[in-house]
Amino acid sequence: MKRSVIYPGSFDPLTNGHINIIKRASSTFDEVIVSVAINSNKSSLMTVDQRVKAIKKVFAKNKKVKVDKFEGLLVQYAKSKKVNTILRGMRTVQDFEYEMQMATSNNKLNSKIETVFMVADAKFSHISSSLIKDIIKLGGNAKEFVPEPVEKELKKILKKG
Ligand code: COA
Repeated sequence: MKRSVIYPGSFDPLTNGHINIIKRASSTFDEVIVSVAINSNKSSLMTVDQRVKAIKKVFAKNKKVKVDKFEGLLVQYAKSKKVNTILRGMRTVQDFEYEMQMATSNNKLNSKIETVFMVADAKFSHISSSLIKDIIKLGGNAKEFVPEPVEKELKKILKKG
C-alpha cells in the first residue's frame, strides 16, 4: 500500500525549513502532498496560487512530492485525498503546545487521522515565514532562508505593493 502523508501549512512563503522537512519526508513516505491552506483568518502576502506555483517549481524534479491547496477542515480534506497521516514540523518547544492541540483536535474529529512530527533541522529552527518577509521588506538578504525562485517572487510582489 502506498504510504502518503499530507504536509499542510500556509507556506507564505515556503522556506528552507519547510523544504528540509519535505525532502526528509519524501525519503520516508512514498508520496508527500504539500497542501497550501486557504485561510482567510491569516493575512498573506502571496496569493494561494503564487504559493502553489513556487512550491511546484522547487520540487519539479521530485516525483514523490505533489502540491495542492485546500479550504475548510484539514480532516475533511485528508479524507477526500484518502490519506490518514498528517505531517508537521516541530521547531522549538514553543511549537509543541499548538501542535499538540491541533493533532489532538484533528484526531478527535476523525480518529483515523494520525499526526507525525519531524524535528526541524537546527539550522532552520529559528526561521518563520513572517521573519523572512520582514527581512526582504527591509532590504536584507534572505538567501540563506528561502530558495531563489521564492526570494525573486517575494521581491517582485513587495516592489509592486
Ligand atoms: N521551517 C520554517 N518555518 C516553519 C516550519 C519549518 N519547518 N514549520 C512551521 N514554520 C512556520 C511557518 O513559516 C509559519 O510562520 P508564520 O506564522 O510567520 O507565517 C508558522 O510556522 C506556522 O505556520 P504553518 O505551519 O503554516 O501553520 P499555520 O498555523 O499557519 O497553519 C494549518 C496550520 C494550515 C495546518 C491549520 O491552520 C489547519 O489545519 N487549517 C485548516 C482548518 C482546520 O482544520 N482547523 C482545525 C485544526 S485543529
